[in-house]
Formats: sequence, structure tokens, C-alpha cells
Amino acid sequence: MKQSYFGEFGGQFAPEILMHSLLELESAYNYHKDDKTFNAELESLLKSYANRPSLLYYARRMSEDLGGAKIYLKREDLNHTGSHKINNVLGQALLAKKMGKTRLIAETGAGQHGVATATAAALMGMECDIFMGKEDTLRQELNVYRMKLLGARVHAVTSGTATLKDAVNEAMRMWSSTLQDTHYVIGSAVGPHPFPTIVRNLQAVISREIKEQILELEKRLPDVVLACVGGGSNAIGAFYHFIDNREVSLIGVEAAGHGIESKDSAATLNVGKVGIFHGMKSYFCQDFYGQIAPVYSISAGLDYPGVGPEHAFLFETKRAQYVAVTDKQAVEAFEYLSKTEGIIPAIESAHALAYAIQIAPKLEGKIIVVNLSGRGDKDCMSIARYRGENINE
Ligand SMILES: Cc1ncc(COP(=O)(O)O)c(C=O)c1O
Repeated sequence: MKQSYFGEFGGQFAPEILMHSLLELESAYNYHKDDKTFNAELESLLKSYANRPSLLYYARRMSEDLGGAKIYLKREDLNHTGSHKINNVLGQALLAKKMGKTRLIAETGAGQHGVATATAAALMGMECDIFMGKEDTLRQELNVYRMKLLGARVHAVTSGTATLKDAVNEAMRMWSSTLQDTHYVIGSAVGPHPFPTIVRNLQAVISREIKEQILELEKRLPDVVLACVGGGSNAIGAFYHFIDNREVSLIGVEAAGHGIESKDSAATLNVGKVGIFHGMKSYFCQDFYGQIAPVYSISAGLDYPGVGPEHAFLFETKRAQYVAVTDKQAVEAFEYLSKTEGIIPAIESAHALAYAIQIAPKLEGKIIVVNLSGRGDKDCMSIARYRGENINE
């Protein structure tokens, strides 16, 4: 049971009805994670279907323009379906198939995890149901269309704030009534054990590749690794193989929305407190009474009131640092990368870029790696709306 914790964080705070399935999942994962056939199948899917390894790209124009650190971008946006989410989904879908499940369900915020899950379901001939906050279906309409095209049923969730937290609630509810044939593909390094560990291990391919690539390109490790943090899956994936390299600074970038002093943010480690929610002990944005507080960010993928337990542990032990970036700074970074490098980043990833833009000029001679967790096609309409632009003009 201790392996379900990261320090004091994590655990398995799940209703009794889910315990059997969590234990079944844990034992299936423990069996398959070291199984040669399973790993060979996963490797092959990652390589020949998802387009791994992803590039580590030197952003020359950006580095020269900012005048300081050398900036590299880990191009998770070039993966099939356009984000890091596919790394986790292919692993979980393969595991579900081995467990004899015939249906995948998932929550989604930005829609990237939903698209990745619908894609894996299509590829493996499985049924698929996706839960998405009504609010997010509106700001990420392109991804709703993609999921339907891929054969998934998309359920718009209207409870609560109609965003990611509410989608997780509905997915968990559906899972508890369909446990026999259904696997819940959690989309981030959150939830009850064993999900945070499974998701972390499946996303750790990102830091494994960064390490190999930077050693080849620069003959040394980076000074800073930066990633945006919603639930924390792309960040823990980008950090994991550097945790023991104490000389590498690990920086997670949360969504400050309208500012962390305002009530409208989703910067959990900057403003939250320790609590228990969605099956795990971690940090959560809470109101005066300890209830989960409504959160806000322009980015649907970062608009979550909690953070994965391993980040809570890295935060408390000070191995990683967590900063926050506002909507305005993220939108400016979204536009900056598009114009400077010809790469349109996801608005989630633009949060990490915005922080790189702030610190790079002060880090002459240093190397920064930014995990570009996804591509920004899905965000173009909402950024145009944010700017008050009519996209058809
Ligand atoms: C492109 C992209 N990056 C980051 C995130 C945030 O999730 P996580 O913190 O689990 O990486 C999302 C979530 O939807 C996303 O779509």
C-alpha cells in the first residue's frame, strides 16, 4: 500500500464500489509493466502510430530574440492527435484490452485527452464514451467534432461549473456502474492509486527522450525543464528522469487566470491547500469551508482545482518549483511562438512558454527545455474571441 503514496500524498480514497476495479487494475498493471510482449507492443504503437520519438527542437529565433538562454522545445505537439495525451492513452488502452475490457471512458478538458482516447478506441475496436464539461465543449468545439468523427459518444456535463472537475465526477459515476466491461482512462497523473503511477510511467517517455536528445546535442543536461501543470501529466513526464539530477531545475507552470490574487485562477500549488478529492490526497483550490472552489483559466486543460500527488510531494520537498502565468501572458506567448518560430502552441503549453520568455534573458549560457505539450489549432477560435477578432475577416 505504501507504494501508493508519494510522501504523505496520493493514496486510494475511493468508494468501496470502485475498490475491486482499482485492485484489478493494479494487479494487471504490475503484471504487464514488466512483460516483454506488452512492452514491445506499446513501443511499436508509440513509434509507428504515435510518431515517437518526438523532436527536441532548438528554437533559434526565439533564443536569439530573447538574448540569454538557449531554448529547446520538446515537440509533443507533433505526436499523432496533437499532444502528449496519446502516450498515456495507448498504454492504458492496451492494458484495458489485455484485461478483456471492451469499452473506454474518459473525461476531457481541452478535448486532447478525449480525442486521444477516441483514437485508441477506434484503433483497437473498442466502444468509447467521453465526458466533457458543457463550458469546454463550447470553447473546444473542434475537438468535440473530432471525437464524434472517431466514433465516440460525447456527453456534455452541465453540473457544477461544467468544466473538467465535473467531467471527472461524471466519468467516475459512469465507471462505477459499468465496471465489468469498461476501463476508465484517466487523462492526467491524478485520481486514486494506481492511476498517478501508471500515468507517470507512461508519460516518463518524454524525459527519457529529452535526456538522450540533449546529451547528444549539447553533451550535457539542461539547466531548466519547464512544463505547464493542469493535473500534471505532461510535467511529471518531462521531470521524471531528471528528479535525481539535482542540478536540473524543474519548474511547473500553473494557470493564474486573471491573477493569483483574484478568485479567478487555477494555480493549485500557488493558492491551494491540502485535502482529499477525486480519490487522492493532494493540494486543491478550496473555499473557506474546505469545499472545492470554482477555478478559472482561459485554458480548458489547466482549468482543474487539483494537482497530481507526485507534484504535491515535489512541491513540499522543494525538488520542483511551481509558478503561475496569467491568461494575458499565455495568450501573448501563444502569439509570440507562432510569429517567431512558425509553431502554434496549445494554450496550455503557452503557459510554460510564457515563463520561459520571462526567465530566458536572465540565463545567459544556460539551457532551457520547454515541454511543448500540444498544438494550438484547437485554440485559434477562442484566442480570436479573446482578442475580439472576427476570424472570417
Ligand atoms: C496540450 C495540453 N497540455 C497540457 C494539458 C494539461 O494536462 P496535464 O497537466 O495532465 O499535462 C492538457 C490537458 O488537456 C493539454 O491538452
